[in-house]
Parts: sequence; C-alpha cells; structure tokens
Amino acid sequence: MQDTISAVTVDNKSVELAVKDGTIGPSVIDISKLYGQTGMFTYDPGFTSTAACESKITYIDGDAGVLLYRGYPIEQLAEHGDFLETCYLLLYGELPTAAQKADFDYRVTRHTMVHDQMNRFFQGFRRDAHPMAIMVACVGALSAFYHDSTDISDPQQRMIASMRMIAKMPTLAAMAYKYSIGQPFVYPQNDLDYTSNFLRMCFAVPCEEYKVNPVLSRALDRIFILHADHEQNASTSTVRLAGSSGANPFACIAAGIACLWGPAHGGANEAALKMLKEIGTPDRIPMYIAKAKDKNDPFRLMGFGHRVYKNYDPRARIMQKTTHEVLNELGIKDDPLLDVAVELEQIALKDEYFVEKKLYPNIDFYSGITLKAMGFPTSMFTVLFALARTVGWIAQWSEMIEDPSQRIGRPRQLYVGTPQRQYVTEAYRG
Ligand code: ACO
Repeated sequence: MQDTISAVTVDNKSVELAVKDGTIGPSVIDISKLYGQTGMFTYDPGFTSTAACESKITYIDGDAGVLLYRGYPIEQLAEHGDFLETCYLLLYGELPTAAQKADFDYRVTRHTMVHDQMNRFFQGFRRDAHPMAIMVACVGALSAFYHDSTDISDPQQRMIASMRMIAKMPTLAAMAYKYSIGQPFVYPQNDLDYTSNFLRMCFAVPCEEYKVNPVLSRALDRIFILHADHEQNASTSTVRLAGSSGANPFACIAAGIACLWGPAHGGANEAALKMLKEIGTPDRIPMYIAKAKDKNDPFRLMGFGHRVYKNYDPRARIMQKTTHEVLNELGIKDDPLLDVAVELEQIALKDEYFVEKKLYPNIDFYSGITLKAMGFPTSMFTVLFALARTVGWIAQWSEMIEDPSQRIGRPRQLYVGTPQRQYVTEAYRG
C-alpha cells in the first residue's frame, strides 16, 4: 500500500519519500531510495524508529498494551485455545477447523522423536553445560541430520522443516534438562498432548509411573501461547537476518536461540527470579527501588520495562493469573518470592520514576516464579521461552522467504574511526 508522499529537506535539497500505511499502527516513511537521492544514510541505533519488513503475523500496540496474533487478541487465544492451535494460526494465518487441527496435531506429533544419533551428540557436553548452550548446538545440528528439509526454495521442504522444529524442540529441551541432572532421556509418548508430553519427558523417570497434572499442563501450555511470537524483537530479527542470506532454517533458529539467551531478552525471567531472591523480603524493596533509580548504579529492576510496551504488558496480566493458579494447585500458600514480587510491583507502579518512564511489569516478572514452582530450574527458563518462540521464528522466517521483495539484510553504519592512513614499518612506530 503506498498512499502519500512526504517531502523532507536534506542539505537544502527537497526529497520526496513515499509513505506506506499498514492496516493498523503507525505508517512508515520509505527511505530505501534516500541514499541514492541524498548520499546520506539514516542513523537509528537499536532500530527504535525503523521498520525492517512488512508483516501480517503479529501486531503490538505498546501504548495501549495490545498484542494480536493474526488479528486475534492474546487474551482470547490464551483463554480458549491451545498452543498447537496458536502454532497453526501463526503459520497459516487462520484458526484451524476441527479437521485441520486434528491433522496438524497428528503431523507435529509424528515428528517428536529425534534421530537416535543425537543422543551421542549430547554425550560430548559437560554435565554442567547451560541448557541454552546445548540448545544452540543441537538445533543447529539438526541441519546435519535432516538433509531432506534444508532446501529453502522448496515449499514442501520448508514445511517439513517447520514441523520438525516445532515437534523436536520439546524433545531436545527435555533432553538438555535430563542430561544436566544425570537422568536417562525419556522418549516422547505420542498419545499425550504437546505440553503434557513435554512435562513427562522432563519429569518422568523409567522406574516410576508419571501422571501429568492437567492444571500444570494447561498453565504451561498457556505460557507457551504467550511466548509464541512478538513481532520484530531481537531474536526474531536475528532469525530474519540469518535467513536473508539463504541459510537453512535449522541454522537460522539456532541463531535466534543464541540471541534469546541474553539477559535483556529471553534471559530476563531468570534474572527477575534471581533479583527477587536477592531482595529476599519486602522490607528490602525500597533499597532496591533506590538502586534502580540511581544513574550511577547499573542495577535495573528485572522484569520491568519493555522496548515496545509503554503500558502494562498484556501477557504479564495473564501470567500473573497463571502464577496464582499454579501455586494454588501445588498448595504453595506462602511463597516469599511471590510476596516480594506483588509488593515490588505495587511500589514501582506508584513510584514517580517508573510512572514517568512508563516502566511496567513485563511477562518475565511473574513467569520465573511460576516455572520454579512447576519444578524447572532457572537455567531451563530461557529454554522454555525458546521452545515456545520457535513457531514465531519459523512463521516470520517463512513470511520473509515467501516475500518477493526479500533481499539479504545489510545495515549501514556511521564510520567514526581513523580515516585512511599509510602503513608504517615497526621501526618507525610509537
Ligand atoms: N529498571 C530501572 N530503570 C529502567 C528499567 C528498569 N528495568 N528499564 C528502563 N529503565 C530506564 C533506563 O535507565 C532509561 O532511563 P534514562 O532515560 O534516564 O536513561 C529509561 O528507563 C529507558 O530505558 P532504555 O534502556 O533506553 O529502554 P529500552 O527500550 O532500550 O529497554 C529493556 C528496554 C531492555 C527491556 C529495559 O527496560 C530493561 O533493561 N529491562 C529489564 C530487563 C527485562 O526485564 N527485559 C525483558 C524484556 S521482555 C522480553 O524480552 C520478553
């Protein structure tokens, strides 16, 4: 869609730039011809004002606190649907009929096992390896196992690769966990639903019967829905950039996992839980609020603030409700971490600093408490995020591959280093 023309003046020269309108949300100024017309680039570190693509998948209104997958509000999807329904929606653009859903569930389920030689791959890691390190390696290694789904020009191969990744992520994630605690791997059991199967692979042992708790399974499934996509965030942009060179989808998703690992992104729930533990008791909260506000102190309230949401993160509200459900189900009446979290949230929401900067709790503020109560160690939190986000990465990657205007991604720079100079031999230096 190309609606209007905007005129800007650069170096006293008037340049006309096209303005493109989306269906909702801010319009964009098309600057793709700017360099040709003016000899200048735009400067936007962190891409805070730059749209890198057109997309039909996910929409966020950060000021209003709205998140839509293919037009559907996250609250409705989390309340009424399951994770595989969300996967179908993100991949195909529409909610499935009952027959389509049954077929999709069947196709995903058929791919849950990993190549048996993958087990040997695991043996190469130290037992204390971070499971995210294992995930980066093993997901990347899938391209060495499934040669029949790495040709990105073939839509059929792209779809098989997508199914494989959605299906195998829980298996690999559970294997990474089992390996770290020295327990045998538990094979998938395909008569269980996606999330129950994952819980069983994580927590069952061969010497005992394991019954999946349906309340916990539903709660985790909802957490997966909340994390499934979030438009052009750092890891998704990484997947798109890696994919823009024509790299195979397994390698691209491995790149996304690597990016997600950082504490400012997927690692924030681990960091938020660590912070709540460090605070320890509600009476110490004011001290940490003061640290967060101190410009000379690098401390930040983890689980607070978001690049896009300048309002309550809609996922945080659902997450908070899910936390209470899980703690009730597990009979955890008094969780000191939850006490600190609730109190901290109340204080921060009224504090001038946080109000003025529009810093609200994000999804990670409560997810750590919930996952910990379910029995996951903190090192697995980001792995669960990666598992859920895989479908978003794949949907965005597919959209990019199918876009005829797609080109290799190549940002420009403002060079501030030394201008050209002559090489001098060692004897004349210093
Ligand atoms: N605690 C205290 N101050 C904060 C916080 C925080 N959590 N977040 C932002 N600020 C302050 C900054 O110091 C800055 O202040 P200034 O304008 O006086 O310099 C201002 O708010 C803007 O912060 P930026 O870092 O410029 O905002 P940006 O949009 O780049 O960062 C981010 C967003 C990285 C999420 C940031 O809010 C943060 O570090 N939060 C804590 C980590 C976290 O929870 N990450 C999870 C993100 S959600 C996700 O990935 C699923």
